[in-house]
This record gives sequence, C-alpha cells and structure tokens, in this order.
Amino acid sequence: LANEVEKTMQNAPQGATTHAISLLLGHPDPTTLLTPEFTEAMQNVASSPQALTALQYGSEQGNRALLDYLIGKISAEQSIALRHDQMMIVAGSTHAVDMIARLYTQPGDTVLVESPTYADALHIFRDHGVELCGVPMDKQGVCVDEMASLLSRLQHDSRLPKLFYTIPTFHNPTGITLIESRRQQIVELARRYGFMIVEDDVYRHLAFEQEVPSSFFALAGNVPVMQIGSFSKTLAPGLRLGWLVAPSEAIARFVGCGTTQMGGGASPLSAQIVAEYCRVGAWDRHVESLRRLYQMRRDTMLDALQRYMPPSVKWTQPNGGFFLWLTLPEPMQASVVKQIALAHGVIVGAGGGYFSNAADGSHNLRLTYSFAPPDQIEKAVEILAGVLNDLS
Ligand SMILES: Cc1ncc(COP(=O)(O)O)c(C=O)c1O
Repeated sequence: LANEVEKTMQNAPQGATTHAISLLLGHPDPTTLLTPEFTEAMQNVASSPQALTALQYGSEQGNRALLDYLIGKISAEQSIALRHDQMMIVAGSTHAVDMIARLYTQPGDTVLVESPTYADALHIFRDHGVELCGVPMDKQGVCVDEMASLLSRLQHDSRLPKLFYTIPTFHNPTGITLIESRRQQIVELARRYGFMIVEDDVYRHLAFEQEVPSSFFALAGNVPVMQIGSFSKTLAPGLRLGWLVAPSEAIARFVGCGTTQMGGGASPLSAQIVAEYCRVGAWDRHVESLRRLYQMRRDTMLDALQRYMPPSVKWTQPNGGFFLWLTLPEPMQASVVKQIALAHGVIVGAGGGYFSNAADGSHNLRLTYSFAPPDQIEKAVEILAGVLNDLS
C-alpha cells in the first residue's frame, strides 16, 4: 500500500509535494483512505438498483438514508432531538461555510472569527466582502472577556457582528478545545448581541483521551446555531461530503436557494456510498481506529518536540484532531523559518495565514501530525528544531 500511495502522490494531491516532508497539509493519512470496507460499499452501490438514482440529480436536502443515519447518530452523541427539517447534506464543510456567508451576510457586515482560525474560512469570508474581526484565544479557547469588550466596542460603532465562526473542538490551527463553561458564556453573548454561532466541528469525532464538551447546538436553546460536520477528516476528503445542522428556517432557505435548486442535493453518488458504509457500522469502526492512529502520531510529534526543540519554543498539547501550534521566541519570524525549513526539506504553515490580521501570526507555526508517517514526523521535527537552534 505504501508504494501505491507513493505512486498516487505522483499525481500530487492539492498542495502536496514528493520532495519534502509535509507538516503543512490538513489531510488524513493517505493509507487510511481505501479500506476493504469502503471498497465493498462502493461495489455494493455500483451493483445495486440505487446506482442509477445515485447518478442522477439528487433530492435537494440530500440522500435520505444518510440523513436518517446522521440524525440518529448526532442526536444520540450530542443528547439532542434533531428533527429531519434541521439537517441537510452538503458538499463538505467548505460548501456550508460558503452558503452561510452567501445567504446570511452582506458585503461590509462584521463577522467574528477566532484569532487564529482556519485559513480557508478566512478566504471564503473575504470572497463575500465581510469585515473580519478576530477574538484572541488562550489554552482554553476563545477569551470570553475579550470577546465581551470587543462586542461592546462594536455595538458602540454600530458594527455588531452577523455571526461568529468558530472551530470549538480540536481547533484548526491550534488543536485547542473550547471549554464548556466558555461555550455557555458565548451563547449568552450571542443572545445579548443578537449574532448567530457557526460551529465548524469537523474534528469532533477525533477525540483521543476524553469526552468532548457539549456542542454549541446542544447548549444554545433558542439562540441560532449552525453546526457543520464533514466526512473529510474521518473518511475521505475526495468524497466532498458533509452535513449541516441548523434551525429549520435556515435549512429551508439553503434547500431553496438557487445553487441547490439548480444542482440538486450535494454529492448524491458519494452520499449513497457513505450511507451504505455507515449502515453496516463501518464508519464507527473506522473512526475508532483513526482515533488510535492519530493519537500515536500526536504522541510521536510531542515526543520529538520535547527531545529536539530549544527551550524558548512553546507548543500546544492537543487532545484530538490533526494539528498543534508552535510559538517561537519574539525575534524569530515564522515566514523566515518556513523558507529555511523548506530549503531543508520540511514544509510547515507560517502563522500569518491563520489570522484576520496576518501580523498577529509572525511568531507561530502550525504543524500537522495526521499526514506524514511517524518516522517522517520525527525526522521533520528534528530538522525544524535544527533550523530554530541555528537561528537562535
Ligand atoms: C476547520 C475546518 N473546516 C473545514 C475544513 C474543510 O472541510 P471539507 O473538506 O469538509 O470542506 C477543514 C479542513 O482542513 C477544517 O480544518
């Protein structure tokens, strides 16, 4: 399989390169993508009468079997009673974020984001011409006191936000999880200032050692929350498949919008295959094995950081997901470190790209442990540490 993966890499997946070790890509481990159970699900769908339905335009809300499965699973996991009119299938989280920005903001509106946040979400919001406002984070997630002061300033300037986009669980890029008491306080702020919460929870299922806090959707009561999930991190990003949980009026609006009406429901063929895969319990088993795999990768990276990094460098300790976040000592510029590391064969993400104000990330790097195999993770951290030692 490793050889096959190597060969496939010649066709360079998005952002990949064969010549350097990538700690940049937020991709799943390529060796986990084509399991025998997934191949079987594809074959079952191809040889069933549903294959023809799956190859047509699909129902606007999405594949019914998959919706039923996800409604049952998410209701049980999050202790909520989801109704059918509160969920739709989407073509990945990206599709949902874009749709929300398109239908729920106007150019010039304010959108709150975590500082730092997911770089491609910043890109989508910028595409829609909104004003981004970053809320600082600490080890427990968004700093609620700072969020409250920011909101009061924005109110004073008549610039209250339409929405707060957050990655509360195993955050991209830091790996931090927002603690539950702060989630409750943020719900209260949303109630008071009238903004919607968009929780991008694509890493929620990848918890390594403990229960995840309650979701915003579960805590919100009558405060509007949209929760996004995806099969990209726990099955395969090439499926382009995820789900959106939202108040029924919002789902009706997304289902009735022009692109959904014109294109039909998201990814009908992928959805049919994944519905079959989930029906036999294969996704649950796969997620369980991914948790163990990525926990070991996280440990490999933490051990290597501990062993090789100069004492002036600090990093987060993620309990799940794909990433950890390095803070460099003040004089070191992340963009310079990134260039020198690349020349030594290691690719990392420089912090600036993850902030609404790029200068705020001058001393940070994002490291991914999901994609490279353990020996390469260790080697890459050793090389990166060598670069930092030379610079200091
Ligand atoms: C927070 C977050 N949201 C969304 C995505 C993309 O998800 P999808 O492939 O479902 O569009 C990523 C991938 O890196 C992510 O980290």
